[in-house]
Amino acid sequence: MDDRAHGELDAAQLTGLNDMDPEAFRAAAHAVVDRIADYLAGVESYPVLPPIEPGSIGSLFPEHAPEHPEPLAAILADVDRLILPNATHWQHPGFFAYFATTASGPGILGEFITAALGQNPMLWRTSPIGTELETVVVRWLREALGLPDAFAGLLTDTASTSTLIALAAAREAAGLDAAAKGLAGGGLAGEPRVYASAEAHSSVEKACMTLGLGRAALVKVEINERYEMDPAALERAIAADRASGRRPIAIVATIGTTSSTSVDPVATIADIAARAGLWLHVDAAYAGVVALLPDHWRPFAGWQRADSIVVNPHKWLFTPLDASLLLSRRMDQVRAAFSLVPEYLRTLDRASPVLDYTEYQPQLGRRMRALKLWMQLRWFGLDGLRRRIAFHLDQAADFARWVDEDSDWERLAPAPFSTVCFRYRPAALVGREDEPEVRARLDDLNTRLMDAVNRTGEVFLSHTRLGDRFTIRMAIGNLRTEARHVERAWALLRREAARLDA
Ligand SMILES: Cc1ncc(COP(=O)(O)O)c(C=O)c1O
Repeated sequence: MDDRAHGELDAAQLTGLNDMDPEAFRAAAHAVVDRIADYLAGVESYPVLPPIEPGSIGSLFPEHAPEHPEPLAAILADVDRLILPNATHWQHPGFFAYFATTASGPGILGEFITAALGQNPMLWRTSPIGTELETVVVRWLREALGLPDAFAGLLTDTASTSTLIALAAAREAAGLDAAAKGLAGGGLAGEPRVYASAEAHSSVEKACMTLGLGRAALVKVEINERYEMDPAALERAIAADRASGRRPIAIVATIGTTSSTSVDPVATIADIAARAGLWLHVDAAYAGVVALLPDHWRPFAGWQRADSIVVNPHKWLFTPLDASLLLSRRMDQVRAAFSLVPEYLRTLDRASPVLDYTEYQPQLGRRMRALKLWMQLRWFGLDGLRRRIAFHLDQAADFARWVDEDSDWERLAPAPFSTVCFRYRPAALVGREDEPEVRARLDDLNTRLMDAVNRTGEVFLSHTRLGDRFTIRMAIGNLRTEARHVERAWALLRREAARLDA
């Protein structure tokens, strides 16, 4: 190692028994912040998807961990050389795949402070501020989403965990006492059943796997031509299961499904849940933030009647991963599902019970996620967040219109939020879409089209299958996206389609 080229070792690295010297940390932190600011300012210059092959990265790194300290300058040089070029750039304004996760400036700053404070709000006493700020932020968000104060909640890592927690609570609420006795001993009369639409996110099925209900417990309820759950089919499925001795536990309704962002009829489903005495969980992981906009209440009609709701700030609220908001009107059931307090975690020096968030989740330790959200909410203000979400909704409406107005393109689903599902379907093929060879040709054409567009590096789009058709998704939700990026995506799609067709 050439120290002149790669910087000097810090004295603490050579002989120290403690952490980095605070002054060395200050200098290094300034250097890191400069790098981050440069990265964010120049992120558009990277290809959104790195043009590399799987398995090509590992060999760039030494086989073994370094035995001796290395200068920070060398490590940061390798961040430039090895890390940045091999990242998929979720911060890129041309990121239109899956659902966006932007790390906003104030959110990143919140992560800095969170990391520096090293809080673990598992118990109130292990982080009084982490615990109480979480309660404040949960209340702020709940209120901003227009939900009544009967809902309390917590911040988890992901919607998958939030849904797992909600279904564990539903399992307890159904009287299975699985937390104490397990499913076998918990008075399980009949196989458990959970109902979600065929378009629900796979995290619902995973929760069934993890909770011991099994994948067989999930009933995938039929959908209509708009990819929304058919409530009549739901009611029939519950009745049929009850008649054959099965044990319905919960219904999961989705506002903004992953593939097409369809909206299940939550109000009708809430009626069914109430009649059947079932827990209703609403998965609004992606679209829930639209409830911040008073003009857009329609998809959310009835969601205030849910037993639990998940909304992910780390999707469309620009919060750095991870941050998922789980709200429930029945936190007692959530606690029943997860509370276990061994002696070493008991708080002895308080007369009154304290709020220990660890009692509401499977893990003990937890990140302080409230700080970045608190900083973000203050920096943007609710109004600023609404403005940005509304901008994305407008951009998606424009994109949907461009698709609709071009006879060579076809929209494959309604676009209630900021995601447009579509495909290239040359006008010459209109009316022949259902012929098997035309189907196969369109699938192939669109697969290659999406690949070609992504290979430009300017944008990244992902796909799904709707009605068994290869479907390209344009998911707008990145904080750095401007109108010109959406226009560019459309131009690239048309350019590459013309090339493929030529
Ligand atoms: C509707 C919906 N629910 C749940 C999830 C899972 O989210 P997470 O990655 O936070 O677990 C997703 C992910 O895209 C989603 O679209």
